[in-house]
Amino acid sequence: MNHYANRGVVVFVSLALFFSAGLLSSCDKGGDQSSAKPAKPAKVGKMVMGFSQIGSESDWRAAETVSIKAEAEKRGVDLRFSDAQQKQENQIKALRSFISQGVDVIVLCPVVETGWEPVLREISKAGIPVILADRGVDVSDPSLYLAFIGSDFVEEGRRAAKWLSANTTGDVKVFELRGTPGASCATDRKKGFEEVLAAPENSRIKIVQSQDGNFERGRGKEVMEAFLKTKEGKDFNALYAHNDDMALGAIQAMKEAGLKPGTDVKIVSVDGVKAAFEAMVAGELNCTVECSPLLGPAVFDLAEALVTKRVKVKEGVYDQTTAKDVIGSRKY
Ligand code: AHR
Repeated sequence: MNHYANRGVVVFVSLALFFSAGLLSSCDKGGDQSSAKPAKPAKVGKMVMGFSQIGSESDWRAAETVSIKAEAEKRGVDLRFSDAQQKQENQIKALRSFISQGVDVIVLCPVVETGWEPVLREISKAGIPVILADRGVDVSDPSLYLAFIGSDFVEEGRRAAKWLSANTTGDVKVFELRGTPGASCATDRKKGFEEVLAAPENSRIKIVQSQDGNFERGRGKEVMEAFLKTKEGKDFNALYAHNDDMALGAIQAMKEAGLKPGTDVKIVSVDGVKAAFEAMVAGELNCTVECSPLLGPAVFDLAEALVTKRVKVKEGVYDQTTAKDVIGSRKY
């Protein structure tokens, strides 16, 4: 599912709802400003951030973790880091633990898109803002998170296909190595790629087989080894890998099988990690579509704006029964 198309709207609406909820909580009680419960002061000490990371399946993921940790250190944020080892259930446990620790803000990189609604409701009840970093979630109520910070994965898929279209002639038989099943980036990168292939001028390019490689280099190699033994594996001339790590693993498998990756097989992948550039320089990878993992600065800018600089204005509702008591203390 592509959430990117309305992400801009989601960011705006969610922030608006979040801030207005703060205002409403003081408005709906009504009465005099002086008798209202004092507002929770804006955060003055160290901000505490819970960060639920997917794991360490790729060079991209490692770079994202470094970016978030380095930014936390630079800004003096108390970062509670949790590595879910690719398991959604571990992420859910970590999120519940962040609630009980009373963190100020939660950053979630969701391994898959679905299944988050119950825990996001618990977080929302606890009044903790959630920032999605990198991958999206599929929820019926977009106000369950405040913002998404990350890339347009559908567009990445389109770019990969456009490159292949512009840099090949004749029949192109593509093997597709997909990312983690159910991950927004895997779904969307496939969608964008297929969208471009559906254009009449690209009817010469066909996906002949598509398999999961979980975004891991080792898995990419194993899957390619198995594919090379199939009928389609004897007669393909292009690889589309949803990330560089899987492409690099597949390149290794092709070399071991006596193929010349980059020449016999055109290879396009996504991420733009350093090892992909090395493979391009060596002539073994043809193209990488950039997906930046350097999300730390944007995540912390937003978190600080939400947590540290959030000031609620106390307001009331008055009627004829309270007007006489309040009129004397009115300053405006
Ligand atoms: O969610 C981003 C993807 O996850 C990256 O493309 C991939 O390398 C990572 O593991």
